[in-house]
Amino acid sequence: MRVGLLTGGGDCPGLNAVIRAVVQQLSNESATALGILEGWRGLVHNLTMPLSPATTEGIIAQGGSILGASRTNPYRNPDTDLTALRENFARHELDALVVIGGDDTLGVAIRLHNDFQMPIVGIPKTIDNDLMATDFSFGFDTAINIVTEAVDRIRTTTESHRRVVVVETMGRHSGWIACFSGIAVGADYILVPEVPIDLPHLISALRSHRAAGKKYGVVIAAEGARFPDQGPLTLGHDPDSFGNPRLGGIGAVVAEAISRHTGFETRSVALGHLQRGGSPSASDRILATRMGLAAGRLVLQRKMGTVVAVVDGHIVETKMGEHVVAAKTLDLTYYDEAAAFFR
Ligand code: F6P
Repeated sequence: MRVGLLTGGGDCPGLNAVIRAVVQQLSNESATALGILEGWRGLVHNLTMPLSPATTEGIIAQGGSILGASRTNPYRNPDTDLTALRENFARHELDALVVIGGDDTLGVAIRLHNDFQMPIVGIPKTIDNDLMATDFSFGFDTAINIVTEAVDRIRTTTESHRRVVVVETMGRHSGWIACFSGIAVGADYILVPEVPIDLPHLISALRSHRAAGKKYGVVIAAEGARFPDQGPLTLGHDPDSFGNPRLGGIGAVVAEAISRHTGFETRSVALGHLQRGGSPSASDRILATRMGLAAGRLVLQRKMGTVVAVVDGHIVETKMGEHVVAAKTLDLTYYDEAAAFFR
C-alpha cells in the first residue's frame, strides 16, 4: 500500500509529530509513505519527498512541518489544478491520502472525497481549536503556552511602568486561544469574538482593579474581537485563496480607547505568528502522536472518507462531512469562569 501525506493551511506545532506517527503506523504493516510538499500545491505541481521511519524518527520535537504548508485551494482553478492534482495522485499510484489540515484544507479533502471518491483520511490541526469535530486539536496547547509565557514577560515591564497592556492573540473567529491564555495569566479582562466588546464594562473593571491597589492591567484581545454591530478588523491585505481576510489591529484600537477613557498609560502588543512557532508542548506531541497512529490505522483498514478526532479524551473516528469543518466557537462556560475576575 502506498500512502501520500500532506500538511495544508497555516502550520502549527505538532505537525511533525503527527507525520512521524502516521509513517510509523504505515511502516508497521509494510505500507510506504510519500510526502507531498506544501499542502495541496504539492499535489497540483507534483512536489514530493520520500518518508520513512528512519527519516522521521527524530522530528517529534520540531516545530513547523518537514513537508511545508500552503493555503492552496485547488478548487479555485478547477480545470487546471484539479485535473493536475488527480493526475499526480494516479502518477504516484497512491492508494490513499492522509490530509492534515484545518477547515480549509479538510474542506477540500471532503469535496475531493465527495466529487471523485478520492480515498482520504483526515487529521484536524489548528492552533485556533475551532473545528467542530474535535474537542481539541494539536497546536492549541502550544499556542496558549506561548501566549502565557509571553504575557508573563510583558507583565513585568507593564508593572514597572504602572501601565495597562492589551495583548492581541490569534484565533481567527474564535476566542479559544484568548480565553484559555487569559485565564492562565490571570487577565484583568478578556475580549473574544463570541462576546461583543463592552467598552464601559472593560473600563470600569480596569478602574476598579486600580482602585483596589493593582498598579497595572493586562487585557487579552482575540484578533477577531469586535465592537457591537461591527465586523472584526482586518489588516487590509488581499484575502487568501479560501477568501479569509487577515485579521488584526483590534488590540491597538482597544488600547487607545482605554488610554482615552482612563488616562492610564496603555500599550498594545500583537503576538502574531510567534504563537505558531517552535517546539510543540508535551501535550500536543502526545495528541498528535495518538491522532497520527489512529489515522494510519484507518488507512490500513481502508476506512476512507473518515477523520480522526478527540472526544472526551478518546481518539475516535468520524465520517468526512461538513460537520467536521463547521466552526466551533468558544464554549462560553470558560468565558463565564474568566469573567468572575472582570469586576
Ligand atoms: O488559522 C491559524 C491562524 O494562525 C489564525 O489564527 C490566523 O488568523 C491565521 O492563521 C494567520 O494566517 P497567515 O499565517 O496566513 O498569516
